[in-house]
Amino acid sequence: MQNEVISIKTITTENSGKLSFFEAERNIPFAIKRVYYIHGVANGVRRGGHAHKELWQFLFCPYGKIRILLDDGSEKSEVVLDGLPKGLIVGPGIWHDMIWLKEDSILCVAASEYYDEADYIRDYDDFIKFVRANIYDNL
Ligand code: TYD
Repeated sequence: MQNEVISIKTITTENSGKLSFFEAERNIPFAIKRVYYIHGVANGVRRGGHAHKELWQFLFCPYGKIRILLDDGSEKSEVVLDGLPKGLIVGPGIWHDMIWLKEDSILCVAASEYYDEADYIRDYDDFIKFVRANIYDNL
């Protein structure tokens, strides 16, 4: 499965808040080479608009509300990350957009590879060609 919503393990301690955690190759299906986060974004902003050829990512939103739009080339779906301890795995070959539904929402991402612009597909027609070329690998 190229997309999956994961419930992030959370410990609640009386009067002192909550602690949420996930572990690479245990709770998410890859080793983490990079972590980045997007912040300081106004309400209504749309980011993303690309897919990756090989990268796996785990998206979570520790504060705020962000809609993630997903498209595998034949089916579209969406997930709202809203500060609750849940995250979304996005695998390769998934076109994704993120829409900020609350100002200053923070999107955190754990990624399987270092940043590599060559891994991006930023043109939707190229994405559809990529999906068609790779479809037999996923059967
Ligand atoms: P991009 O992935 O296009 O952002 P988004 O999908 O959220 O719209 O990245 C924006 C810019 O930041 C782009 O110039 C590449 C750079 N960047 C890095 O240098 N390292 C990183 O780890 C990431 C994710 C982006």
